[in-house]
Amino acid sequence: MALVITPCASDEDLEAWRQVRIAVVPYERAQSVEEMRAHAGPDRLMVLAREDGVVVGSGLADRSETSGGGSVVPRVLPEHRRRGVGTALLDRLVAHVAGLGVPTLRAGADDEGSLAFAQRFGFEEVNREVEQTFRIDAPIAVAPAPDGIEVVTAQERPGLWEAAYDGLGLEALADFAVDTPLDVTPERWATSWLADPMFLALHDGEVVGCAGLGRDPDQPTRAENGLTAVRRAWRGRGLAVHLKQRALAWAADHGIHEVYTWTQDGNAAMRALNTRLGYATTRVGIQLARPLPPGEPPFTGALAQS
Ligand SMILES: CC(C)(COP(=O)(O)OP(=O)(O)OC[C@H]1O[C@@H](n2cnc3c(N)ncnc32)[C@H](O)[C@@H]1OP(=O)(O)O)[C@@H](O)C(=O)NCCC(=O)NCCS
Repeated sequence: MALVITPCASDEDLEAWRQVRIAVVPYERAQSVEEMRAHAGPDRLMVLAREDGVVVGSGLADRSETSGGGSVVPRVLPEHRRRGVGTALLDRLVAHVAGLGVPTLRAGADDEGSLAFAQRFGFEEVNREVEQTFRIDAPIAVAPAPDGIEVVTAQERPGLWEAAYDGLGLEALADFAVDTPLDVTPERWATSWLADPMFLALHDGEVVGCAGLGRDPDQPTRAENGLTAVRRAWRGRGLAVHLKQRALAWAADHGIHEVYTWTQDGNAAMRALNTRLGYATTRVGIQLARPLPPGEPPFTGALAQS
């Protein structure tokens, strides 16, 4: 059977790409076609793999938010695996990222088979994330906010989220337990990092904390936590607990039964906070990296964390 890999062009292609994403990663919210269009940039390649016209897999290659790297995501529908489709997709995606002139490639794997595939192609583990899930089966009690804090949503106060980039945003991004610093532009902060609803803690008009929810129209009873962050000067006073409970209470009021979140394994503070709130650990994701092209001396010590 002839395998054909082509870039997504039409909305129909993007919907087919989305359906592969939903089939392969049913536990994570998939972007809508509209959102995919909005996030398209000159460096992003999205492809579909078809055999005799039937979609068997998809791929994504882009510059990654981790400084200086590119990311590749080959996905193959379970019933079409172990026949070389993943290899063909990876080749196409690697060729694209090589054209971006970045020195490293990043990928992720949430299951043993995908990890074996990635290792076979020279990727090595650089970091881990855990998924923690809160099941809503009772009303949510919300602990009080620290004195001097007013909580609003980003949606009811346009402009606040954008203004939070320089203070809260840069501090939070610098404190992520990642192996390589994140490189998030103000534009990406304003669009990709804003949850809906996003609760903002204000002190003297300045945003000092946030927590929110990413809702999932494909699975309306599930939602993902958006970024939870507190400015360093406000940590240790129960602000994150308050904000996260506000988000959970909002979820409970809106028919959501399950809220999940991915946290870096090395972020002990956030994992402990989630456990204290009643989240259970439900999955582990492994981040991997490889030099581009393969075979060059691998990573420097900077990639050794966790
Ligand atoms: C990873 C994935 C894309 C592989 O797709 P695939 O079409 O099955 O891969 P291939 O048939 O090209 O496999 C190539 C080689 O990788 C290794 N491999 C792939 N799947 C494996 C598995 N489940 N167990 C062990 N080794 C595996 C084998 O060496 C295989 O060669 P072989 O079949 O001759 O033994 C697919 O499992 C998938 O969609 N996983 C979920 C999404 C994901 O995590 N993608 C990112 C991976 S970097």
